[in-house]
Amino acid sequence: MNMLQIQGGRPLRGAVDVAGSKNAALALMSAVLLGEGTTVLHNVPHVSDTRIKASLLERFGAKVAWHEGSLFIDCSTIELSELDEEMVRLIRTSFYLLGPLLARTGKAILPAPGGCKIGQRPVDFHLKGLALLGADVRLDGGKYIAETSGLKGAEIYLDFPSAGATQHLMSAAVLAEGVTIIQNAAVEPEVTTLAAFLNRMGARIEGAGTSTVTILGVGSLEPCEFRVPSDRLQAGTYILAGAITSGDVTVRGIMPDNQTALVNKLREAGADITEGPDWIRVTCPNRLKGIRVKTMPYPGFPTDMQQPMAALLTIAEGNSVVEETIYESRTGHVPELQRMGAKIRVEGGRLTLIAGVDGLKGAPVEASDLRAGAALVLAGLVAQGETTIRNVHFIDRGYENLEANLRDLGASIERTEVDDHSVAESG
Ligand code: EPU
Repeated sequence: MNMLQIQGGRPLRGAVDVAGSKNAALALMSAVLLGEGTTVLHNVPHVSDTRIKASLLERFGAKVAWHEGSLFIDCSTIELSELDEEMVRLIRTSFYLLGPLLARTGKAILPAPGGCKIGQRPVDFHLKGLALLGADVRLDGGKYIAETSGLKGAEIYLDFPSAGATQHLMSAAVLAEGVTIIQNAAVEPEVTTLAAFLNRMGARIEGAGTSTVTILGVGSLEPCEFRVPSDRLQAGTYILAGAITSGDVTVRGIMPDNQTALVNKLREAGADITEGPDWIRVTCPNRLKGIRVKTMPYPGFPTDMQQPMAALLTIAEGNSVVEETIYESRTGHVPELQRMGAKIRVEGGRLTLIAGVDGLKGAPVEASDLRAGAALVLAGLVAQGETTIRNVHFIDRGYENLEANLRDLGASIERTEVDDHSVAESG
């Protein structure tokens, strides 16, 4: 297994291009099952989550081939197959194959995904929605068995604007007979991307990107060619890397409109940010100031940037409060940042209280999940001396070319082999 070694204290300078979106790609890689034939997805990030998802598709009979950043997925033949529990636990979106499989073949069996380190992450909205669409879903021996004699359009109200449930139910409903309306739908950019992809396959989805999504069922879908947009979370991490090291970083090939919450909170903290049509440049002429951050569904401050943002705030002047409202326990970075000298603590599970310190000191630390790992990389970049980060496999789930990109910006970061003792989490 791998470990990252960072010699911190160097301001990052230069430009970085951002890879395709992990979360958008994972949603598209469920929906591909709906089209008979070969779909081509360009700009798919080479991260462990997309590689695992590709191997899951193969388990259902799809033929998958990577050609550099493009993924060719032939879903001409799809078989009813049972996945092992470990595979489903490895990558949460494997559960989101249930709807497309059901729509395509009338039956699907998938192990229940279970909780993970950042929270319980139930799938009740998914199950309620599928039942409303006419699926018979039962839990038997830890597996969900779903069957239908034909999905039918329905009105579905989500108790919370869940990105995953909106994407999953949208993918199930495109082949349902009649009209489906998803109320209180998530408005995340990944939902809009999935709708654009499905519409290119021949679906009729209206209102994606608003809280009411209308799906007019069609008889069949055709495979298509589609480009995955850039990853707003990788982009956000590089913006924070520029800010935390008081550097001068331009993040290119992105959609600045998707970064509104992060950009505005960084400006509030004192960062200098300029934007162009597809880039954002960050500099920090003065020490940043402590702020309050509260995570919210998009377009609010993204939960996935909460831990990296907390790393930045550990060295801001004064006090900061980071409130997590989406997950119950997304605080695995906190004890590790304490090891690096941060004055940071969790109160009541969801509040992270930070008293800014003048600087961090390198230390051996462990990533507990993907974004906690990103937070530790950021802390390592600014800490004096050496930081070593274990459990890099968490970081590899969502960051393509992380070390190479950071080195190009002037960081000293190396990957080395060590014995790794932790298990994977679902993301
Ligand atoms: N929820 C329920 N019931 C459900 C579904 C969700 O209670 O049936 C709750 C969840 O427990 C959570 C909230 O609703 O408290 C939001 O969860 P959501 O369904 O929106 O999350 P997700 O689709 O499982 C995706 C991303 C996450 C990201 C969240 C929120 C993927 C593969 N994952 O998860 O990404 O944090 O949306 O934006 O798209 C990451 O990239 O690090 C990551 C964890």
